[in-house]
Amino acid sequence: MELNKKNKNFDLLRFSKFCGCAAKVSAAELEKILAKLPIQPDKNLLVGFETRDDAGVYRLNPELALVTTVDINTPPVNDPFLFGQIAASNALSDVYAMGGTPITCLNISGFPGELKNEEIVGILAGAIDKINESGAILVGGHTIKNDQLIFGLSVTGIVKPNKYWSNKGAMAGDALILTKPIGCGVLFSANKKKFVSENAFNECLRHVATLNKSASEVMSNFEVHSATDITGFGLIGHVLEMAKASEVTCEINSSTVPVLPQSIEMYEKGINTGITMSNLESAWPHIFMQKKISDSFLKVLMDPQTNGGLLFSVPGPASKEILAALRDAGVTKAEIIGKVKPFEDKSIIIN
Ligand code: CO
Ligand code: CO
Repeated sequence: MELNKKNKNFDLLRFSKFCGCAAKVSAAELEKILAKLPIQPDKNLLVGFETRDDAGVYRLNPELALVTTVDINTPPVNDPFLFGQIAASNALSDVYAMGGTPITCLNISGFPGELKNEEIVGILAGAIDKINESGAILVGGHTIKNDQLIFGLSVTGIVKPNKYWSNKGAMAGDALILTKPIGCGVLFSANKKKFVSENAFNECLRHVATLNKSASEVMSNFEVHSATDITGFGLIGHVLEMAKASEVTCEINSSTVPVLPQSIEMYEKGINTGITMSNLESAWPHIFMQKKISDSFLKVLMDPQTNGGLLFSVPGPASKEILAALRDAGVTKAEIIGKVKPFEDKSIIIN
């Protein structure tokens, strides 16, 4: 079957009330909800939901642990194949963020009654394309009828019980490395209104549809204190989760943060996402602004990402060598974006 990625005849956005990420609750609300749930003590549960990490990690035996996660998206683009690729890459990313290897996937789909079979095939084929690239396989799934088109994967991976990464463990003296530029959320909104240039949007899509596989594989050769991926809560929201779980302060050197072309400009023009402001409100009480930055740039730092980059906290002295290794492996936009300090008053400093 020939599926043309550049096919302009598709219009998945007609089913998309929200763009990309349909988060129901803000980061701050989610924290309150999870705090009310009972904990299930289990000595083999290495990572549960208490620190709101990317995936759960469960030890099967001294050599092997399962990494399990689920993620769904609404279509940020019209093309079914591309939507499938993006949603699958995004779901697989949570396994990469834990240092795991994806093994099996199940799809989770909510398809509107009017969605055409050709579109369903496109979405699934796009997902399988990325699942293939990851080395995992699709083994089944579940579909319901739903007015809002949603698609995603539950991914099961494996990791050595003593080698997984979590959002806990960042240490004073560490450097923070981000592997992809941010700003895709506002570009998806801008594309709906045809505000963004084709070049800028293609660059955005190239990053969003890139697996975090290479970045994760390169980093498995180095000492990693903490890792997560950047998704719906935006760069600062996910740095904040790492800072809180690790009980440290993360100082972001804003001038080094890689940003997608036109993303700042789109916020300047008044384009927004449904989530940026709630990300800003959730994070704001924890931020000390050491440097004045524009409102538009601040919004990009809060911009919800789909399959965003991985964020690593690594020993400071090794950071340059690590950055070079990432770039050599094709992770060309990776940057050192800040450092970790002992906790001081606020969890985040923006510099
Ligand atoms: Co994640
Ligand atoms: Co996730």
